[in-house]
Amino acid sequence: DKGGWPSFMAKEVAEQPEAVANTIRGRIKDGAVVIPELDGLDDLFRGIDRVIITACGTASFAGMVGKYALEQWARVPVDVELAHEFRYRDPVIGAHTLVVSISQSGETMDTLMAVKYARERGARTLSICNTQGATIPRESDAVVYTHAGPEVAVASTKAFVAQITALLLLGLHMGRVRGSHTDGSGAVAELEALPAKISRVLAEEEARVAQLAGWMADTRSVLFLGRHVGYPIALEGALKLKEISYIHAEGFAAGELKHGPIALIEPGQPVFVLVPSPRHSALLHAKVVSNIQEIRARGARVIVIAEEGDAAVLPFADEVIRIPLAEAMFEPILAVVPLQIFAMALATAKGLDVDQPRNLAKSVTVE
Ligand code: F6R
Repeated sequence: DKGGWPSFMAKEVAEQPEAVANTIRGRIKDGAVVIPELDGLDDLFRGIDRVIITACGTASFAGMVGKYALEQWARVPVDVELAHEFRYRDPVIGAHTLVVSISQSGETMDTLMAVKYARERGARTLSICNTQGATIPRESDAVVYTHAGPEVAVASTKAFVAQITALLLLGLHMGRVRGSHTDGSGAVAELEALPAKISRVLAEEEARVAQLAGWMADTRSVLFLGRHVGYPIALEGALKLKEISYIHAEGFAAGELKHGPIALIEPGQPVFVLVPSPRHSALLHAKVVSNIQEIRARGARVIVIAEEGDAAVLPFADEVIRIPLAEAMFEPILAVVPLQIFAMALATAKGLDVDQPRNLAKSVTVE
């Protein structure tokens, strides 16, 4: 039941504040993140020397955000590997490796096979999953469920923000257990503030982003640039657009521009740029602003996603989409929302069925 929405995707985008709130609920205790399902795993978390996050598609981009969070808070090295690549080499894993899988459906065959492979090699496994009792959590040593509710549209939206939320929780939980993070930084407050901030993005930017997409219905290619945690969001923005609007799209790490992709920039080329907050790193922010200048000088049509009050981007942007202030790790959950709306609106403007894109299945149960 679409509940009055034009599509399941529209409904699920609108449900994101709730998806995040439900994923956090019951996992904060006395001002710290405590995930009850992970009770009893303290020794495991203290003993590991490596984490490998494995997933496919959108879930792998959530994993890339998770890498930043786990490394910063839990001080453990993290690699992110596509599940279908992981199994076909000889990874260095063992009893001190934690393999974290991420899957909305819990049935993705590539991810399941990676989990089994990791377990056979002696690694410990933890799954982040949105479907109670699915195969992947059953095959894992531990599970942290996302509580996004059933996701029907093929293109993942609310499950993605819930996956990032679960990874932030995991990073804070492990950081506490490993003694590498105490909540002096206000991370719990940041988490709790997320649902209302997502609601604000939906309320304040949706109409404008949709209008922008309407103007761009004939566009043949769109690029997305980001740095740090904005990089996986650039990849996700491009994937959403490819999947449902069938427009060629690429996401790049902004720093890669001069190593190749800048050759793609010609007059009129639309480029979304995710601008990190200058409050986290003035240097990172300045680098992205200079990337924007480089592409603008070559005629790109620049659509910037930047925090409220960031005026440095104004002289070089054709369009500015605003997100509320948040600490770096929490920004992706806000920044992805306008990209989802953009993809959905553009597909709708092209007359496409956003819930059932061609050639795709919701759950990929073959390798
Ligand atoms: C993209 C999308 C896919 C899935 C991927 C993994 O919108 O939905 O890329 O993210 O197939 O699926 P799960 O999370 O079910 O393992």
